[in-house]
Amino acid sequence: MDHDATYQLLRNLTSPVVAVTSERAGKRNAMISDAAVRASIVPSVPRLSVYIHKFNYSHDMIFETGRFVLHLLRTDQLDLVHRLGFVSGRDRDKLADVAHRLGHLGAPVLDDCYAHFECRIVNVMDTGSSTCFLGDVLHVGHGAGRAPRGEVMTAAHFRANMPAAWRKDYEQHLLVAQRFAEERSRDIRPVVWKGVAAPGR
Ligand SMILES: Cc1cc2nc3c(=O)[nH]c(=O)nc-3n(C[C@H](O)[C@H](O)[C@H](O)COP(=O)(O)O)c2cc1C
Repeated sequence: MDHDATYQLLRNLTSPVVAVTSERAGKRNAMISDAAVRASIVPSVPRLSVYIHKFNYSHDMIFETGRFVLHLLRTDQLDLVHRLGFVSGRDRDKLADVAHRLGHLGAPVLDDCYAHFECRIVNVMDTGSSTCFLGDVLHVGHGAGRAPRGEVMTAAHFRANMPAAWRKDYEQHLLVAQRFAEERSRDIRPVVWKGVAAPGR
């Protein structure tokens, strides 16, 4: 198998670019993912799933609190992707200058986005290097707006339109993540999701 060609084909399965926010013991954080999909066809049971790498600061914040907010972004929000997806919340308070409020579940809701989904985790799947979180969508909105506007940003749009000055960093971060994932991908543990002791904390 030609692994590089396969990887390029698999890129067709990436999701829109989303911002995932979390909160734990007063600390607020946000990161970027392009691995989120609708996970229910039932309108009365809205669900989504998202893969988060274990080395990301957000991972344990989400795992330990059982909730997150997932935001669809617009094509004009490249700067936000750079701000949230290129540095870790371990090193910087990434939401200090990003307008937001705490949502119904206690995790941050960004004011400016195409749409947001407040989720309570109902199950997880361990992949070795990451966790796939399955969330019930409990509240929906458009940040501080009343209706969606603009176009949803896809992963392909981001890769094609990010400023040239960011590309080296992007590729370097991807390489580091790929090396981590390569080492850990076969170390899959059975995880039974029992919820969190006190939801939201
Ligand atoms: C376009 C793009 C897509 C990304 N997709 C994912 C993803 O699907 N899962 C993931 O865990 N990290 C993904 N990342 C990387 C995280 O956003 C990045 O490591 C971030 O700094 C993590 O922040 P944290 O340590 O504060 O949680 C992506 C980054 C970019 C720019």
